[in-house]
Amino acid sequence: MLLRYRVLVSNSDTTGVVADENWWKEAVFYQIYPRSFNDTDGDGVGDLGGIRAKVDYLDYLGVDCVWLNPIYASPGVDNGYDIADYRTIDPTIGDMDQWERLLEELHNHDIRLIMDLVINHTSDQHMWFQQSRDETEPYADYYYWQSEPNNWESHFEDSAWSYDEKREAYYLHLFADAQPDLNWENPTVRDELYDIVSWWLERGIDGFRMDVINVISKAHGLPDGDPETPSLTGSEHFINGPRMHEYFNELADDGLGSYNDDIVTVGECAEIDPETAVDVTGRKSNALDMTIFFEHMGLDRNEGWESCEWSLSELKSIMQKWQETTEDGAWLSLYHSNHDQPRGLSRFGDEEYRYRSATMVATWLHGHRGSPFVYQGEEIGMSNVSFESPAQLRDVWAKNFWKRQERAGKDFEQVRDRIEEFSRDNARTPMQWNDEPNAGFSDSEPWIDVADDYETVNVAAQRGAERSVLEYYRKLIRLRDEDDVITYGDFELLAPEHEQVYAIKRSLQSADYTLLIICNFAAEPLTFEPPLSVDLAAEDVTVALGNEPDPALPPILELRPYESAIYRLHD
Ligand code: NOJ
Repeated sequence: MLLRYRVLVSNSDTTGVVADENWWKEAVFYQIYPRSFNDTDGDGVGDLGGIRAKVDYLDYLGVDCVWLNPIYASPGVDNGYDIADYRTIDPTIGDMDQWERLLEELHNHDIRLIMDLVINHTSDQHMWFQQSRDETEPYADYYYWQSEPNNWESHFEDSAWSYDEKREAYYLHLFADAQPDLNWENPTVRDELYDIVSWWLERGIDGFRMDVINVISKAHGLPDGDPETPSLTGSEHFINGPRMHEYFNELADDGLGSYNDDIVTVGECAEIDPETAVDVTGRKSNALDMTIFFEHMGLDRNEGWESCEWSLSELKSIMQKWQETTEDGAWLSLYHSNHDQPRGLSRFGDEEYRYRSATMVATWLHGHRGSPFVYQGEEIGMSNVSFESPAQLRDVWAKNFWKRQERAGKDFEQVRDRIEEFSRDNARTPMQWNDEPNAGFSDSEPWIDVADDYETVNVAAQRGAERSVLEYYRKLIRLRDEDDVITYGDFELLAPEHEQVYAIKRSLQSADYTLLIICNFAAEPLTFEPPLSVDLAAEDVTVALGNEPDPALPPILELRPYESAIYRLHD
């Protein structure tokens, strides 16, 4: 079926209108973590039937495209990021028939679907790896095997190498030991992966989110890394590796093929900088339409699950650098939360001011240039949770972190704060649909504990409620449907040094107004005068959206705690 496209009227006489408008630049994405979204078969794990039952909700919210975290057959060591069969749906999540019905239901509601593509590594249970252990051809070199490990570190373990008794050799895994890295140097491996990409595209999906896609190329000979690097040892040899662009172009030609013009590809790129983001989205290779970058996610933490102080001006300068460097050449995915991050409300906002700060942080994010991604539960103000014991941990990273601490003689209470602050499990607790048992997520005990606050923080309580995070998100998402300036406008940061107010100006030459986005990042009220180069009369200003009633109008703004507003300044 044909999806409705909203095409901007481009006037060739007008400059400032972005030449290539795309559906995905105008879209708000919604990320679903299937295991935690909605369980309909009563096993405590979310499933495809559960997502299908909530398509009406997604429609109500107004999102344009859903990204599903991995749903393929998997032993679940990393909740699906360890794939055992790329062409089969994991039985706990559903089957192909249910998947097709879900795709159809989404498309019937004009909502697109992108799948997670995890092709840097597989599960150790994948047939390829099992055969590789036996050195059976053609699989013997599908992975990286060495008689001795190098000094590279893994994200989830200490060393990036584990010994396999069967092959009597070490294999490389940049993540958990159950996630061996595929050997992209091997052209047969690449062909297998491109076939998988085409296979899913032929089934009618609208694109991919590509997992850690900028680590697929490793330096020839796998040399030791610099142990002094502030990042993982070895990362200089696998982040944006030497053949990355070659592989990306090949992936574009042989995998994405003729679909590439219509679909969207969102590349998760570890430690990427903005210039490289421009390179990978067209300047040097063509596989990616936009990148998921991380710099703003590193602001409040040091290596090793240690938090650190951060300031608003630092956040501004990171975002400004990304916005300005990518202005002409790249498109960004905007996010403050996802399945790998603690809840954005708890990091950038304030749980005590849940409605105000959740809506303020959303306004801040959506105010930038790029495609906003809403992570399930963010739209109702879900926040971080507490973990009373290690038995509550589910995430392989958190569990490994805790094991290392325990080995070092720590008890749980000594590291509990760090786990509560950084664990990815914070984002993976079940979606809170209502105040019934298990938050309406499941009739059985969920695979991960429901957050304590579900009786008050849930969809049912917020749906239709005037002052609710959910209803505010709907307005914010709708605004993007109606306002070309928020989608395509140029970005200008105002008051870069201000430590309490984040102020953005967005302008598009073809529009007869400028957007002014104001966010008070603190519980303290204040008076703020945006540094605008124009004199404003009252009739020049309208309020497009605000999280408080009757926001003050520029030029002098009296801002309430965590207040945010989007103004139109008319010419
Ligand atoms: C990034 C994914 O977002 C994360 O959840 C996963 O653990 C790693 N890649 C490994 O696949």
